[in-house]
Amino acid sequence: MDEVTQIREKIDLASFISEYIPLKKMGRNFKANCPFHNEKTPSFIVSPERQIWHCFGGCNKGGDIYTFLMEYENLEFIEALRILAKRTGVQLRESSFEAGTSSKKEIIYKLNKAALEYYHYVLTKHKAGGKAFNYLTKDRKLDARLIETFMLGFSPKDGIDLSNYLISKKKYKKEDLVEAGLAFYAGSRVMDFFRNRVMFPLFDHRGNVVGFSGRAIDESYSGGKYINTKDTLVYHKGSMFFGLNTAKEEIKKLDKAIIVEGELDVISCFSVGIKNAIAVKGTALTEDQVGLVSRFTNNVCLCFDKDDAGYEATKRSLASLEKKGMNITTCIFDRAKDADEAIKTDLLAFKKSIKRDTPVYDFLFSKTFSSFEKDRVYGKRKISEELLPIFTRISNEIVKEHYLKKLSNELNVSLDALLREAERMEKKDIVKENVFVKSKDKKPRTEVLEDYLISLIVQHGNPKSILEKCIEILKDYKFKTDSYQKIINHLLLFFKNNGKFESRIFMNILPKELTMSFDSAYLFPMPSFDGDERYEREVEKVARELRALFLKNKIKEISLSLKTGEKDEDLKKVKDLEKELTSTIILLGKS
Ligand code: CTP
Ligand code: MN
Repeated sequence: MDEVTQIREKIDLASFISEYIPLKKMGRNFKANCPFHNEKTPSFIVSPERQIWHCFGGCNKGGDIYTFLMEYENLEFIEALRILAKRTGVQLRESSFEAGTSSKKEIIYKLNKAALEYYHYVLTKHKAGGKAFNYLTKDRKLDARLIETFMLGFSPKDGIDLSNYLISKKKYKKEDLVEAGLAFYAGSRVMDFFRNRVMFPLFDHRGNVVGFSGRAIDESYSGGKYINTKDTLVYHKGSMFFGLNTAKEEIKKLDKAIIVEGELDVISCFSVGIKNAIAVKGTALTEDQVGLVSRFTNNVCLCFDKDDAGYEATKRSLASLEKKGMNITTCIFDRAKDADEAIKTDLLAFKKSIKRDTPVYDFLFSKTFSSFEKDRVYGKRKISEELLPIFTRISNEIVKEHYLKKLSNELNVSLDALLREAERMEKKDIVKENVFVKSKDKKPRTEVLEDYLISLIVQHGNPKSILEKCIEILKDYKFKTDSYQKIINHLLLFFKNNGKFESRIFMNILPKELTMSFDSAYLFPMPSFDGDERYEREVEKVARELRALFLKNKIKEISLSLKTGEKDEDLKKVKDLEKELTSTIILLGKS
């Protein structure tokens, strides 16, 4: 047995997945809300018998323990394999997985790691980093320990040092430096991307260096106070947090994450013992980020900058947080523009504001009411325009009603009027949204029936007799979904040589490219039937409807060709088909 199989057999998939998301028992399978797309009703199914998973809710992903881990942690196969090998204690043969097979992603991780060490060395040991070191320790009041904890660095001014070091000393390729976002082409040579900046390495939550952000230290800089690694294979700005790798244990322990804007906010928080802060890096929370933080806690405290941009970012973060059903608070302080400044201005007040964080909707409520005059018509309108869209998106019905009632009371407007206005606003939104879902969601009836029928066949304890019944009804019908037709052919072949069906044995003879299709049919959520007879009747019904659709189509086709040139044999064919259609429909009506 190879290592891949050996590892797969050592871990129970259902208990593995339940370490990531809560699973509920459903018949012989488990179900959950799919972690790979947003949904309210669970359509993510795990089969303990077959050790496979599949999502039926639209994202249509599925596979085994490796694909789950790869999807969930955004890993390549080899990375997932290493993690699971470590967990199970299975030794991987170096030769097959290590030498020469190092992927692009791994090269980028290694390069970033080397760059981090280089930048850190320059900041802490080399005279070129002196000015930056002074800036951090004097102006920003960071001590050497913090510089170590966050592995801060400095990128030298002349803009070729890092590239030279990585290429000449470390023997990396130019194109890999560019692909990692560390350098760019200037003619045939490469130049460092970051120059004369304090470097903040960006780690993912597993501790890989995925990129950097660089803060200018001279007044005359070009390209923004902060610049970030451009999107690479391993870095996408909106999908990570600065500080999560250092903060995640504390976030789990305190069951809360404090979301701040910038790197220095995180570091300042850390320096005063607030170790569960992570930074979005100057934007609103994205769905990816909410998904990431929700693995560690359901409680977030939004602590963005106290300016208009920070206020907008707070509001724009709510929708994704609500979709995940998170509890959202915010911390209120004044006399400082952000967490870093607040800590330096009045530490005690800041700590208090974190400790007594305010439910975000209470904060938005008072903020809006203090901006407009609630007793004037114009004020009422402005306040409701601001708050209604926010409150109606609250996912918990009780919480939602609480705020809507409060709004109705404070504005002295009936709840009914508010609800009607909310509905009107929502309708406008739905019209917009519908453009996207229309074509995607409506599957043709034939496809729906085929999905269902193939699932009925493969999920039955004795698929042989079910399959025979189907074929008797379907006759020369060919499945539109090619993989289903092939699975059926393989099943027929299987029954020529085997009496009893066993999915494990069958999977061995099924070609690899059909596995996904078979798995999805095997896990397709099924209604429960009282007894075999009801099951068989359902199968017949579905097969007949498919046959009827097929006949209707054929009749239409031949009738079309009749119009162009009438042939006796075609006429007879139509007559026969119509006869069969009639009797099929009669039988269908009876079942
Ligand atoms: N940011 C970014 N890219 C930019 C601008 C900002 O990624 N072009 C992120 C950085 O992570 C930064 C955060 O947004 O830390 C906040 O930006 P800003 O408010 O402009 O920074 P300050 O808090 O003023 O920065 P500092 O404390 O370093 O003076
Ligand atoms: Mn700031």
